[in-house]
Amino acid sequence: MKIVSGRRLEQWRKQARQAAIAADLSPDEVDWILQDLSEIDRLDLRLGTFADRDRIALHVDLEELDRLWQKRIRDRVPLQYLTGVAPWRNFELSVSPDVLVPRPETEELVDVAIAATRRTKLDCDRGIWADLGTGSGAIALGLSVAFPEATICAVDISKAALAVARRNAEKLNCDRVQFYCGSWFEPLEQYREKLCAIVSNPPYIPSGEVPKLQPEVSRHEPHLALDGGEDGLNCIRQLVRMAPQYLQPGGIWLVEMMAGQAGNVVELLEQQGSYRDIQIIKDMGNMERFALAYSPDGV
Ligand SMILES: C[S@@+](CC[C@H](N)C(=O)[O-])C[C@H]1O[C@@H](n2cnc3c(N)ncnc32)[C@H](O)[C@@H]1O
Repeated sequence: MKIVSGRRLEQWRKQARQAAIAADLSPDEVDWILQDLSEIDRLDLRLGTFADRDRIALHVDLEELDRLWQKRIRDRVPLQYLTGVAPWRNFELSVSPDVLVPRPETEELVDVAIAATRRTKLDCDRGIWADLGTGSGAIALGLSVAFPEATICAVDISKAALAVARRNAEKLNCDRVQFYCGSWFEPLEQYREKLCAIVSNPPYIPSGEVPKLQPEVSRHEPHLALDGGEDGLNCIRQLVRMAPQYLQPGGIWLVEMMAGQAGNVVELLEQQGSYRDIQIIKDMGNMERFALAYSPDGV
């Protein structure tokens, strides 16, 4: 821990907030980085009471804090990569540039999954789930809390992402998530016709759109996590095609997608012919965000 006076930190905070405004970023981000990298809490920051303290403990010295902040301003590095943590549901997940920063809308995917289990006769509470493209492990860990007696298979093609996911599972003392490296269902051969649900937030951005995303995303997040091929649907197509071989009758198929893809995803599911009760579910921002379907004979 490094010690700095409240006055000195207050000066730094003031300058950093001005720099944020000049760079068209929210000045609140300064407070988020301070909360992550010091002992100051939100109330302390809001009331400004930290400035009266003689000693404040920082995880990094003030020069390093400033260097990180300059990376945010100049290089548009996402704050979560600078601090190494991302709040998500009830967790403080570790993140690195090897994984997508888990998004708030994906928090809802877990709630949609919970609701979806009420419409199948399968015992999903004790079943085997697959989170395909687990990244930081966010969804798998969210499911493991929601279904404490279930087994969750978390798959990713990126070894580096899986290392982050494993670290998160260890941090949360979660030993019910099993990690597999490989493409989609490839490492889950032993689970043919055994899964009660597959959930995924796959890469779904059309390749041509990826470079046009905000710099935080296009320059810093892994393209492997973003790029869904020419129309953005390459990964979803594979998940539609392969899941019926792995789901039990009545099993859940639940996938996140981007605005504008719902019609095409419904068509893919219908054309495949092995799904029933196909639904599109909106997120809190009123976007058609999730596609849900069931394999036959269980609903
Ligand atoms: C949009 S990210 C989602 C990460 C995490 N589930 C989340 O919601 O924050 C997509 C993930 O899919 C992984 N991925 C890409 N292609 C894959 C493939 N063929 N098989 C398995 N995972 C893949 C990427 O490495 C990335 O971690």
